[in-house]
Amino acid sequence: MWNGAIPDDFPLGQVPDPVARLLCRDSLLAMGLSKPNPPVACVIETTQGQYFSGGTEPVGGRHAEIVALDAYDASGCQDPFQLYVTLEPCSRQGRTGPCSQRLKKYRQLKKIVFFHRDPTQRSLEDLSALCPVERVDLSSFFLQGFLRRVSRHRPRLFFKVACSKDGFIAPLPPRRSPISGREAGAFVQLLRSRMGAVVVGGRTIQIDQPQLNYRIPPSFDLPRYSPLEGESIFLQSMFEYARLLCEQDVSFLQPLRIGCLNPSRPPAPDFIRRQKSLPGPFLTFDSSRPPLEFLSYLSELACNDVLLEGGAGLFRWLEDSPEKGDVIILLQSKEVRMGSGLKLPSLFQAESYPVCCDLGQDLLFFREIS
Ligand SMILES: NC(=O)c1ccc[n+]([C@@H]2O[C@H](COP(=O)([O-])OP(=O)(O)OC[C@H]3O[C@@H](n4cnc5c(N)ncnc54)[C@H](OP(=O)(O)O)[C@@H]3O)[C@@H](O)[C@H]2O)c1
Repeated sequence: MWNGAIPDDFPLGQVPDPVARLLCRDSLLAMGLSKPNPPVACVIETTQGQYFSGGTEPVGGRHAEIVALDAYDASGCQDPFQLYVTLEPCSRQGRTGPCSQRLKKYRQLKKIVFFHRDPTQRSLEDLSALCPVERVDLSSFFLQGFLRRVSRHRPRLFFKVACSKDGFIAPLPPRRSPISGREAGAFVQLLRSRMGAVVVGGRTIQIDQPQLNYRIPPSFDLPRYSPLEGESIFLQSMFEYARLLCEQDVSFLQPLRIGCLNPSRPPAPDFIRRQKSLPGPFLTFDSSRPPLEFLSYLSELACNDVLLEGGAGLFRWLEDSPEKGDVIILLQSKEVRMGSGLKLPSLFQAESYPVCCDLGQDLLFFREIS
């Protein structure tokens, strides 16, 4: 289990430990649910050591600052406080009104600390007339997809594949062949719930007929966090708060399901019928078009983070697309051997992964492209 230490990729030092933990928790809980808005987290720390926190609600709901301020008000607390927020407070009239206007009502507000500027803000409200405002220039993992989408018109990509102990992703000739254990399966479900879209290639659709939607894993399948090497704030949070993730409303957490395929080889009628029975659309993208167009398309669909689940053809098509900050996840079986088959795509063949953890029958390797 997580020993409570906050790893290096979180701005500890400038942020007290309890605040950092709450920011991680509420960022993760908002990720996937806040789309198209950023998964922002906000924590109020009072001078008496009380904490009130919140994350962005589903579209039309409250911003993180408002959730935290509502909790502060509801408690009856009047103590002076410092406010930490992962993205600078908004100053424009959105569906929920500008957060800066609300903040101006609190004479108890002594300081605002934020991590990221919001590239979508046209007129920056000068909150420093109200209280000291400090920008901590360190990144929050959870906001990177949103920031990438609004500034570069492409989402953050999570490339994920499962392979056998001897490094194959499927038998040849290709056929459906389960590789991962139950805990890895549960982890992938939770990962899907944090994504704007889940993408697979045409042949995977033909062979595996995947559902691609998010299904809450049974509680006995919840993975335990057992790092063998390295640390990642994202993985720590995923395991630590798995139960809370499972309790969230599934209807807000369904990623778009997308097949990248050759239009002359459409999916089988059975697959289409099954997809139509699931909530939300199944979309297709012509894999003869340039991958850059696909990334813009995902951005237009307001996807902040996108999970690419293979197969080899899809990864080959996208092999020039990974950028700094994109994530590679390899689930390697400790038990299943194939002897021969489709080889692990080159994208996943790193000499080493900085983070590795134990997932029961599998090992989870994780790296962010630097
Ligand atoms: N281990 C894992 O994590 C994992 C994940 C996903 C898939 N897989 C396995 O990987 C295999 C599929 O991977 P892949 O590299 O062959 O394909 P893929 O990446 O799923 O699909 C990519 C391309 O395959 C081409 N294709 C070739 N034959 C096709 C057919 N009969 N029907 C539809 N499309 C076809 C299509 O383009 P063109 O027609 O233009 O060539 C399509 O755009 C399956 O065995 C699947 O089980 C494993």
